[in-house]
Amino acid sequence: MNNNPIYKNPNSPIESRIKDLLSRMTLSEKIGQITQIDRRVATRSAIRDLSVGSILSAGGGGPYEKATSSDWIDMIDRFQNAALESRLGIPLLYGTDAVHGNNNVYGATVFPHNIGLGATSLCDRDAELVRRIGVATALEVRACGAQFTFAPCVAVCKDLRWGRCYESYSEDTEIVRNMTSLVKGLQGQPPQGHPKGYPFVAGRENVVACAKHFVGDGGTDKGINEGNTIASYDELERIHMAPYLDCISQGVCTVMASYSSWNGRKLHSDHFLITQVLKEKLGFKGFVISDSQALDRLSYPFGSNYRKCVLLAINAGIDMVMVPFRYELFLEDLTYLVESGKIPIARIDDAVERILRVKFVAGLFEYPLADRSLLDRVGCKPHRDLAREAVRKSLVLLKNGKDPKKPFLPLNRNAERILVAGTHADNLGYQCGGWTATWMGASGRITIGTTILEAIMEAVGETTDLIYEQHPSQDTFANQDFSFAIVIVGEGPYAETMGDNSELVIPFNGAELISSVADKVPTLVILISGRPLVLEPWLLEKVDALVAAWLPGSEGDGITDVIFGDYEFQGKLPVTWFKRVEEAGKNSSEPLFRLGFGLTSNREGHLN
Ligand code: GLC
Repeated sequence: MNNNPIYKNPNSPIESRIKDLLSRMTLSEKIGQITQIDRRVATRSAIRDLSVGSILSAGGGGPYEKATSSDWIDMIDRFQNAALESRLGIPLLYGTDAVHGNNNVYGATVFPHNIGLGATSLCDRDAELVRRIGVATALEVRACGAQFTFAPCVAVCKDLRWGRCYESYSEDTEIVRNMTSLVKGLQGQPPQGHPKGYPFVAGRENVVACAKHFVGDGGTDKGINEGNTIASYDELERIHMAPYLDCISQGVCTVMASYSSWNGRKLHSDHFLITQVLKEKLGFKGFVISDSQALDRLSYPFGSNYRKCVLLAINAGIDMVMVPFRYELFLEDLTYLVESGKIPIARIDDAVERILRVKFVAGLFEYPLADRSLLDRVGCKPHRDLAREAVRKSLVLLKNGKDPKKPFLPLNRNAERILVAGTHADNLGYQCGGWTATWMGASGRITIGTTILEAIMEAVGETTDLIYEQHPSQDTFANQDFSFAIVIVGEGPYAETMGDNSELVIPFNGAELISSVADKVPTLVILISGRPLVLEPWLLEKVDALVAAWLPGSEGDGITDVIFGDYEFQGKLPVTWFKRVEEAGKNSSEPLFRLGFGLTSNREGHLN
């Protein structure tokens, strides 16, 4: 081989580099590039000898619990060096679910989950806040050595019983479209004249983004995760596909196929939607990645008849397969299918070309290893301040005073005695929700941040007597008066199907806790949840004020900034708040609170 082949020359046009490299690759190396494996099964020999194209940290997946970004860099660079030792030295793409900041890395900034950001949309028409969050997230992802995040989720959630409702920005397609500005934050803004559908990554502080889950994941019948979206093609296109056009116009590098089905046909085997619509009609020139073990789910029982599943998915247009564990079987089956002519080599070449295009665009051949100069960006103050701003703007004020002429908020920070109560007052894991530190999230001090209680303690005056009782008892009220109480309750963390829920009552006996406090003291309730929950009329009647704070993430002080009046409420509901849970999936004519509802506290307060 000449010692400076075209594909290694950064001055050669990308399409020439792709063509040159492809012409040098064996079938085995091509199939290797199509393969994404989990870091837990990644060995030096597999990466080097099989020319594996990508590795991921599924749902958490750090080197070990509370691993910091330098631990991640060491791990990822080890994998990358193995890839660079392969015959052609094709660098790896390392993927992670950085879906609300680089949430898997200990100490990273954890931003509000998407439903909270959706609440900012109506007061941020150009979605500049979300773009800035993308910029910060990309920096914190690169600071841990990864270059690929499986975000944004552009699901349009049509049923609040769906376990991934909080990963959706809204039930309203236009709000979701607005929030796709995350792509240009993550990848950078393509220049004028950038070719339509062509992937774009600005530089070493940007990452490869992934619009997911194509298409209609948020529209499944009864909100059943990985279920069936029943819709005409026009409805599918108008409601669920529109955000993908915005992502493609911003040069999104990858699209992840959905586990779900459309009118009974699994998306991962849908040639019409993936190839004819996404690639041909919409002109998408990046690569389509499968979801994790999605090929195994094409058959029943799970993983049976795997060779047939590989055939269906690759021929439908899947380019990279997130296997991610049984990769030897995948390699063997795909090799057989190509060598036996069941999958044309042209399909394999198309997939590999798309993968190489993204790798060249991302500059991986020039800069395959991590940039350790970015390490101090992880959890840095400017990012935490940005997250605090996002929390402020995400809060939706649903009730402010039993008498409209006497607003309850903002609270008096110098009140004589305040009671803070509830399961979510002092629990960082609860306020971050799923996809934080681990796939499902967890309770407690799972990362670095400020709980709501800590923020309240910081905000109140020196003379204020602050009493914290997670579960107040009769004794709490026996011999002390309170100016007011702040009760913080809500959902525990969950992800995906574990979050499917057809009752939607406030967990941990939250309603009873609210009632027991509100019976005795004027009460503000702050709800920490991934979606609207049941609010009985008698409960609403009892409380003095109610704020939906969604899943705010690591910066709990964004909440106190607003409830004590330093900033005004701006958030507007990104989803309809039902009266009864049976309406959760319907366009009810008489909801409890309409899409777009949100009060202000009628006080000066800052507005930004
Ligand atoms: C999960 C999710 C997907 C995620 C992927 C990798 O099952 O469906 O959103 O990006 O696997 O963790």
